[in-house]
Amino acid sequence: MNRKDEIKQAYKGLGSAHSFYDGMIRGTTVAGRLMDRVVWHMDKDDIDEYQARSLESIPKDFKGKILEVPVGTGVISLPFFRTLPEADITCLDYSPKMMEAARKRAEELGIHNIKFIQGDVGDLSFEDGYFDVVLSLNGFHAFPDKEAAYRETNRVLKKDGIFTGCFYVKDANRKTDRMIRNFYIPTGFFTPPFETVGSLEERLNTMYEDVRVSNVESIACFSCRKR
Ligand SMILES: C[S@@+](CC[C@H](N)C(=O)[O-])C[C@H]1O[C@@H](n2cnc3c(N)ncnc32)[C@H](O)[C@@H]1O
Repeated sequence: MNRKDEIKQAYKGLGSAHSFYDGMIRGTTVAGRLMDRVVWHMDKDDIDEYQARSLESIPKDFKGKILEVPVGTGVISLPFFRTLPEADITCLDYSPKMMEAARKRAEELGIHNIKFIQGDVGDLSFEDGYFDVVLSLNGFHAFPDKEAAYRETNRVLKKDGIFTGCFYVKDANRKTDRMIRNFYIPTGFFTPPFETVGSLEERLNTMYEDVRVSNVESIACFSCRKR
């Protein structure tokens, strides 16, 4: 089984989600799947595909320090973290409510090698080069100060460390872009400016090496290594 399939497998046991949000992110509820179809033009295979791509560059049996920002409810990352019992995991978000759900989920999944910190991705409290991996799932489209977020995630990563994740990009699906403009920006879930697949690749190439960017509909998946 390749890494991507192993990651997909890890989610199988999660079952139905804790909330509407989780159901949408994982495509595990009827309402969630409807949203995935209407807003994102994705089916369950697409969802599994972009999430597996976002995690596949983290090595199996990884034992180093990993920062996940933002963890949200941990619906994507925590089942994956269960496969890394020797990693030193730090999860950060600035919403205590989202993190409370993540903390509960970590307990349910029996994950103990993890700590939760409330904070701002644009002003991280860690020293330079502290982490071996920075994982960011569905965060950059929400972060208000994207330049600070790119700068800080790079600063806390050590040389040769892996930066990987995914987020919404514009210009990949016009109907999704319209939904984002009309509903997600006004409600504050997403904050412009947004990258395109091309602009993301260009940006990462100025800061990192071994850059890989791909997309599933309007979600770009990326991984790269710090120079
Ligand atoms: C769409 S959720 C993604 C959560 C999770 N990674 C996922 O894929 O389900 C976006 C999260 O970003 C968090 N967030 C937004 N701005 C942030 C910031 N400046 N610093 C840390 N977290 C932030 C929000 O609190 C929210 O939990």
